[in-house]
Formats: sequence, C-alpha cells, structure tokens
Amino acid sequence: MAGITEHGRDLTAGPVADEPTPDEPGHPEYHRRQRAEFALNRWRTAVLYRYRDATVTHPDVITWADRVIDDYRDAGFLVLTGALGCGKTHQAYGALRRVAESGPRRFEMTATTAPDMYGRLRPGGSGHGTEHELARLCRIPLLLLDDLGTEKLSEWTEEATYRLLNERYNACLPAIVTSNLPARAAPGDTGRPTGPDLASRLGDRLASRLAQAATVVHLDGPDLRRQRRSAA
Ligand SMILES: Nc1ncnc2c1ncn2[C@@H]1O[C@H](COP(=O)(O)OP(=O)(O)O)[C@@H](O)[C@H]1O
Ligand SMILES: [Mg+2]
Repeated sequence: MAGITEHGRDLTAGPVADEPTPDEPGHPEYHRRQRAEFALNRWRTAVLYRYRDATVTHPDVITWADRVIDDYRDAGFLVLTGALGCGKTHQAYGALRRVAESGPRRFEMTATTAPDMYGRLRPGGSGHGTEHELARLCRIPLLLLDDLGTEKLSEWTEEATYRLLNERYNACLPAIVTSNLPARAAPGDTGRPTGPDLASRLGDRLASRLAQAATVVHLDGPDLRRQRRSAA
C-alpha cells in the first residue's frame, strides 16, 4: 500500500541515513578529499608554470612518492640524475603532486633551484638572512632542490648545502635533489672517473651524505625539450 499522502506527497519514512556518504562531512573520504584540495592548492602555488601539468610516470619515482605518502619520515632523499631536458624537474613536481593528491594531514613544500637558494642564503642576499632561511629550508616537510651541482661549489655553498641536507637527514625529512651530473662517473682505464660526477662537484662529505640517505634514479630518456620543439 502506498504511504500516507498529504497534498499528493508520499510521507513514508525512507531509510535512516545515519552513515555519512563520501560526499558528506564525517566520512573519511570526504575529509581526505578536503585535505587533498588544500594540499593541491599549495602545490599549485609552489609549482613553476611550465610544470603545472606535471605528473609522475617513472616507476621508481612513484615508489618513492608512495613511501612519502605512507610515512614521510621513512622516505629519505630522492636523487634524480640525467641529462638536461630528460624530465627530472617534471618527475620531481609530479612526485610532489602525487603526495598532495593523497590528502596528507600536513602539506608544506618549497621548490628552489640550487643557484636561487644560494642567492637567497648569501649574506646580504634577497632572503631574510642566512640563518633564518636555512632554518626554514631545514624544517619544511617537503623540499625540492633542483639543479644541484651545475657549478662547482665554493667552500661556503658546500657548507650551506651540507648543513641543509645533514639536518634534514637527522630530522628524517625527505628531499628531492636533481642534478645533470651522474651520481658516480664510470671509471676509465686508469681507474679515475671519466668525467665530473656529484662526488667531485659537491665534495666527498656532501656526496656521501646524499648517497647514504638517497634513492638514486637515473633518467636516461631523450631531451624532451628538443623533441617538443621539433614536434611543434
Ligand atoms: N612526462 C612528460 N610529459 C610531458 N612533458 C614532459 C614530460 N617530462 C618532461 N616534459 C617536458 O619536457 C621538458 C624538459 O623536461 P624537464 O623536466 O624540464 O627536464 P630536466 O629537468 O631534466 O632538464 C619540459 O618542458 C617538460 O615540461
Ligand atoms: Mg630541470
């Protein structure tokens, strides 16, 4: 029999919806999506326009990003090496986007190239003072340090980079470092490295700190910038 009607409306009680759906506050998925939206906005603020659509595709980089998602204190550093234009910065931003999309409880990131960082850290540079800026970079939960080792480090830049990575290592905070130098150059006939590598450019102390804590992923694709230009 039909329910009691009043002015043609069926007033029979429906099922009692005491459990929130994923679209309603109270459901874990609703809150995860809210956190993801917040984190993605932060990611969009930090990302350079060129990489606004960056998504991670390299399986080892995905694995690292998923370790950050599980427990960022456990992930260690990710070092992305490979020639200019092979997609290091793209994969790095893509990895950070993946972390944001997971809806972490906390999402704060800084992305900088190493030369820009040195510019801000230099006494009298554009930052708020060396110690303040270095302390901030040491503590930010997620750091992308792009293009490390492009130039030979001075004693001062080597010391600042060592302090940064050493503090993050001791605090178990992750970082992505990219470089177009190989982690270790292949030894030639004489046993000496055939070209510059991270160890020779950064100094042994810094290179061994990196190696200790890092997953090294070498990207060996073609130069995507040239490919895109010739496709255009
Ligand atoms: N998987 C990808 N899909 C689409 N475009 C990409 C991809 N990887 C890199 N690119 C593009 O190719 C160019 C070179 O990549 P980039 O990450 O800047 O290289 P690198 O940092 O190694 O020099 C950039 O314009 C980037 O946006
Ligand atoms: Mg790059």
